[in-house]
Amino acid sequence: MTNASLYKSHLETMDRCLADALERAGAKGLALEGVLFHAGRAETYHVDDKEIPFESTPHFRRWVPLSGPEHVVLARPGRRPLVVRVNPRDYWYEAAPVAPSYWQESVQFAEVADFAEVAGVVGPLSGVAYVGNSPAAASELGIDVTLVEPEALMKPLDWHRAAKTAHEVALVEVAAQKAAEGHRVGRKAFEGGASEREIHYAYLQATGQLEHELPFETIIALDAKSATLHYHTKRGREAAPGKVFLLDAGASHEGYASDITRTWALPGVDPVFVELLEGVDELERALVAMVTPGRPYLEIHQEAHRRVAALLAKVGVSKASPEETLELGISRPFLPHGVGHHLGIQVHDIGGRQATPDGGLLPPPPEYPYLRNTRTLEPGHLVTIEPGIYFIPMLLEKLRESAAGARVDWALVDRLTPCGGIRIEDDVLCTPAGARDLTRPLIQGPRGA
Ligand code: GLY
Ligand code: MN
Ligand code: MN
Repeated sequence: MTNASLYKSHLETMDRCLADALERAGAKGLALEGVLFHAGRAETYHVDDKEIPFESTPHFRRWVPLSGPEHVVLARPGRRPLVVRVNPRDYWYEAAPVAPSYWQESVQFAEVADFAEVAGVVGPLSGVAYVGNSPAAASELGIDVTLVEPEALMKPLDWHRAAKTAHEVALVEVAAQKAAEGHRVGRKAFEGGASEREIHYAYLQATGQLEHELPFETIIALDAKSATLHYHTKRGREAAPGKVFLLDAGASHEGYASDITRTWALPGVDPVFVELLEGVDELERALVAMVTPGRPYLEIHQEAHRRVAALLAKVGVSKASPEETLELGISRPFLPHGVGHHLGIQVHDIGGRQATPDGGLLPPPPEYPYLRNTRTLEPGHLVTIEPGIYFIPMLLEKLRESAAGARVDWALVDRLTPCGGIRIEDDVLCTPAGARDLTRPLIQGPRGA
């Protein structure tokens, strides 16, 4: 299928989702005819005229791949979306014409020089809700404050974001290709002795992304720093070369994100750490295969702990049996984050803990409070699977003092702590036929492709 036909069929799905959301809002007493999605208003830092890097409202972005602030999409079920691009006549910033692209033939398109002109193009907005970051913009369009992101509308809209259309999957696949190239080059730089900062520059160059275009700040960690889950420091040559390398980094394409992690160890690294590394790579593949329709995502998280507990027992970090290791909670300080999350326009895509299309929360169990996704998987859901094993001193101290601490081989833990941590992460699409790993075919893991 061409980009244009994928997008056309994406808009058909969007229309159905919108109609469903409006119906659900109507059932709660909120009668709406349409929604005005606003790209959003740019903001500056506190007491500064420096602009905060602008990110479009994700719900706007799902309708149209237009970057920059102030544009709107007026969406009404059964009608072509009306896209109004705001392109100020300005000599401070570039005011370029919109580049011809696949999406334009499927929408009504207009361009204005100022947000004040939008109202004249979209016409009367009675019964239209506003979605965006600026109640002031809504008011400028004459939309009542009660219709700014009303919960009865937002919950079903958020819910529908989880299932990606083929158009969205195609965009993530391009984002994945860019990130995979960055990972290949990043690994080479590490093997050549580069510092965290140098690897970061190599990654940017290879992905062709500027810092502000990345979906999240790169996590580039050598040795013990790989145990800091979101390590952002990026040390220079004083901390290079390293022997263990964790790279958690993605790329963006037309507003959609990829999110990949690989961990590598050079020859000479403690063989038990290497065994753990290969074990995490192997168990990650088993967890990826669990991304199937009808499966509660929590089951994958629980299986991750079962397998991590078994691996810790196998290599001797835990002196208890695999079952006891799990029951005593020994795996928890070694894997202190959720096994993954929804992925899409936002890296941690919205709605992961939503109980129903109409709202309500499905909280994670108390022993795993950080799990971001508690939904049941459906075809089209796109999630990350990212198990890990880390030697995090502040968590290990607590384990050492607890009753379960007696079942841990602390001499071995102390030996492995300077190696840091391990995480392997892929982006996985749930399809009617099972899991489709979008990223593993692009970038191998420590045990190969
Ligand atoms: N890169 C952040 C995450 O993996 O969730
Ligand atoms: Mn992730
Ligand atoms: Mn990640």
